[in-house]
Amino acid sequence: MYRTHTNGELRAAHINEVVTLSGWVQKTRDKGFMVWVDLRDRYGITQLIFDEERTPKDVMEKASQLGREFVIQATGKVIERESKNPNMSTGDIEILVSEISILNASLTPPFTIEDDTDGGEDLRMKYRYLDIRRQPVRRNLVFRHKVTMAVRNYLSQKNFIEVETPYLIKSTPEGARDFVVPSRMNEGQFYALPQSPQTFKQLLMVGGMDKYFQIVKCFRDEDLRADRQPEFTQIDCEMAFVEQEDILQTFEGLTRHLLKEINGVEVDEFARITYDEAMRRYGNDKPDIRFGMEFGELNAVAQHKDFNVFNQAELVVGIAVPQGNGMTRKEIDQLIDWVKRPQIGALGMVYVRCNEDGSYKSSVDKFYDQQDLAKWAEATGATPGDIILVLSGETHKTRTQLSALRMELASRLGLRKSDEFAPLWVVDFPLLEWDEETQRYHAMHHPFTAPKPGQLELLKTNPAAVKANAYDLVLNGNEIGGGSIRIHDKQVQAKMFDYLGFSEQEAKAQFGFLMDAFQYGAPPHGGIAFGLDRLVAILGGQETIRDFIAFPKNNAGRDVMIDAPAPIDSDQLDELHLQLNLKKL
Ligand code: AMO
Repeated sequence: MYRTHTNGELRAAHINEVVTLSGWVQKTRDKGFMVWVDLRDRYGITQLIFDEERTPKDVMEKASQLGREFVIQATGKVIERESKNPNMSTGDIEILVSEISILNASLTPPFTIEDDTDGGEDLRMKYRYLDIRRQPVRRNLVFRHKVTMAVRNYLSQKNFIEVETPYLIKSTPEGARDFVVPSRMNEGQFYALPQSPQTFKQLLMVGGMDKYFQIVKCFRDEDLRADRQPEFTQIDCEMAFVEQEDILQTFEGLTRHLLKEINGVEVDEFARITYDEAMRRYGNDKPDIRFGMEFGELNAVAQHKDFNVFNQAELVVGIAVPQGNGMTRKEIDQLIDWVKRPQIGALGMVYVRCNEDGSYKSSVDKFYDQQDLAKWAEATGATPGDIILVLSGETHKTRTQLSALRMELASRLGLRKSDEFAPLWVVDFPLLEWDEETQRYHAMHHPFTAPKPGQLELLKTNPAAVKANAYDLVLNGNEIGGGSIRIHDKQVQAKMFDYLGFSEQEAKAQFGFLMDAFQYGAPPHGGIAFGLDRLVAILGGQETIRDFIAFPKNNAGRDVMIDAPAPIDSDQLDELHLQLNLKKL
């Protein structure tokens, strides 16, 4: 038996018991006549003690040979510590070792296996198995497990069943590029890895498997960010005989349950906002509503004066930064530089200081008097002591820029508190979205999303105005889930493909299976998918999903530990009927 207890288990109540522990050597302190070893495993750290007087000589010798990360087994008596450590759960005791065996030696690790390590990101990713030995990473993985179990239990209790769907499929359009897999048995043909199990879960509804869920890997070949990985996990769900309200209630229930179970936080009924309103008030379809700084549109009060920049703008819009009047001129100039960086792209920024005495001082005093500026303050909700920051230009761009500024300021002001949770449903998304690159409309969610009742015909006359039965769940400024009520009628689906620019043949070739299925009694249905990695990270008080994935990819989509992707040899290429264009490589 390798161990009688784990390294997180022993307490004062165990004093005088003889125990056997196994684990990794976190650190040793060797005074010659006495050696202390911190022994670590998944559960914690226990101190071992060896001393000349009480420890056999051969054991003493072995103790002094131990290096960091050696794997050892030690047997000894639990004794009371002379100097107790109240910061450790096992801090009242130590083990006076009588027997030891070195189960495996270790090279000196390339970084310290401590909470605050000296290892940089790249090094830790290359040796991820060592990184995982560190408490913060281990804690995140255990946290993820807890969330996943809570999700499974909750959904199962609500009569959902988990069904697996295939990974080798045909492309499903979700807006990103597919990862493809060549078929050896079907020359010149490729599978695609699913961007989501969207069409399969709809087919499960046709198959009568009402209330499906699956915790499932999805694959999207898209540019990476802190909240995106090329392979990520969804909690994918679908229900039959439901309307939008049923879905919102069901998954609000799940989210509320998780917040309570995992974070001990009780949340009232979730706020709801339409997409249009979210854009108008926050410039963003995933607004963080933990703090104010809502947009105030200023066209009515800032245009038709002599300031041409504003007169020519489609939108003039500002936010009031609480207590922002404390900013120095230098700090304001730095903010102006910040919004002018190419990542944000504003051409400039106007500001209005709201003085404590009720007067205003702006960067455009030449064009606006105190009465004008008072109207700006009213529109942005500014009070004395605040500063109003104003951007202008094309509506969508300006909103996006001001939204970035709002989030940046909120972070700087400490308003994005990681232990505060403000969930929000964003509803009534547009059905379509104009794509500049291809100069045509694309489905904003996906092509299986149903338009709002009675709006199908509007597609012909004013496609941009058509709203969908589509919704996102936003938590603290992050989109943690999205879904829709689906089209379940073959004719409507065919019309939808037609509007999206698919020819009849293309639609048949790509989605014939779904259209066929709809002819055999497809029930009304809808669903949602949560991004599990994002959900876990946010419940864990962070936004970088990599920290909650055991073996994540880096920003170039590489796994630097196993060094993938990698070339394959020519035999394997031949077998797959592939040729490389070496000139291009
Ligand atoms: P959607 O594309 O909105 O919907 O995805 C659902 C949720 O998955 C998460 N997500 C990601 N997480 C990490 N890395 C990524 N690259 C990534 N992409 C998406 C987000 C998102 O809200 N089939 C539909 C769902 C449905 O209609 O039921 C779908 O996949 O949190």
